[in-house]
Amino acid sequence: MAAPKKTMRALRYDKYGGGAEGLKHVEVPVPSPSKGEVLLKLEAASINPIDWKIQKGMVRPFLPRKFPFIPVGDMSGEVVELGSGVTDFKPGDKVISISFPNGGGLAEYAVAPASLTVARPPEVSAAEGASLPTAASTALQQLKAAGVSSFDGGSGSGSGSGADSDGPKNVLVTAASGGVGHYAVQLAKLAGLRVTATCGARNLGLVAGLGADEVLDYKTPEGARLLSPSGTRYDAVAHCATGTPWSVFAPVLADRATVVDVTPGVAAAAKSFLQKVTFSRKRLVPLVLIPKKEEMEWLVEMTRQGKLRTVVDSRYSLSRAQEVWAKSIDGHATGKIVVEMGGAAE
Ligand SMILES: NC(=O)c1ccc[n+]([C@@H]2O[C@H](COP(=O)([O-])OP(=O)(O)OC[C@H]3O[C@@H](n4cnc5c(N)ncnc54)[C@H](OP(=O)(O)O)[C@@H]3O)[C@@H](O)[C@H]2O)c1
Repeated sequence: MAAPKKTMRALRYDKYGGGAEGLKHVEVPVPSPSKGEVLLKLEAASINPIDWKIQKGMVRPFLPRKFPFIPVGDMSGEVVELGSGVTDFKPGDKVISISFPNGGGLAEYAVAPASLTVARPPEVSAAEGASLPTAASTALQQLKAAGVSSFDGGSGSGSGSGADSDGPKNVLVTAASGGVGHYAVQLAKLAGLRVTATCGARNLGLVAGLGADEVLDYKTPEGARLLSPSGTRYDAVAHCATGTPWSVFAPVLADRATVVDVTPGVAAAAKSFLQKVTFSRKRLVPLVLIPKKEEMEWLVEMTRQGKLRTVVDSRYSLSRAQEVWAKSIDGHATGKIVVEMGGAAE
């Protein structure tokens, strides 16, 4: 295998704010893997809202730890160099990784922790692999936090008969056309749940095609109230949209229900605390992803088996990464936005 180049193309920003214009094309040294890290020649990276939220300063003062910063944590590529202590990979291995919070994915090469790097089989494309780490892991952890414990393929009938006997049967997925939501719909079906989903009118067919039993246009009055056409009350909600107050959820939940919110604000956090201390049967649970290698391996395997599909909104080359950034900030992606390093993508 050819030795890595000494310098590489990358996009980085050097202060908070600035949006897509704040990203600058640079030629910088290829990073070296430290202990426990692998150096990857990147094939693809995928954008998540957290990437531009960090740039906006929404998680200041935690991130980024220093400027200039090459953003994006989700990536797929080929191992070219091992840091000390890494024994489970070798140069030439195709892998996917999550490098969070260090980022580095908008570049030709990046280092990633070996502990969050997993093999990518040939059946899983680089774009699919790069799409999984944050979005699919979040969807999986949302459903687990809602009490789903078995994802063994379910009945697929939409009857809920394949679901755990003690777990939720009817789940609502909001923003089901987005990166997280489109995986949540499929994972909930794998678990045998009956799925109601919300999305915009243009994606009703796509979300039904992912397996949702009922799909609501969130811009209609019924959709805004999350009302199931069949009158179903939800045992669980994988909440991926933003800005939905508890007063909207409360009337559509079963007597005992869990809303797992990956976009909680201050009001949601306060509501969650209050419900916890009052032993409420209807609970709002904020969730922050903690990536796990074994979950990433399982998600890759589900993809390899054709049980988990990645909808790719768009593919761009690294030279057009500013457009990618603007598109994600715009908030209307259908599935995942991918950057491909080979340069052919547009
Ligand atoms: N807590 C965590 O650890 C964690 C992890 C991952 C993601 N997140 C957060 O989860 C959220 C979703 O992430 P994502 O990657 O899925 O975002 P995304 O891909 O950018 O979501 C865009 C999609 O959401 C749809 N949408 C927007 N508002 C909606 C609404 N009110 N009802 C129904 N659909 C709506 C849009 O449809 P239209 O185009 O039709 O409007 C679009 O298809 C983001 O805020 C992200 O920061 C949190």
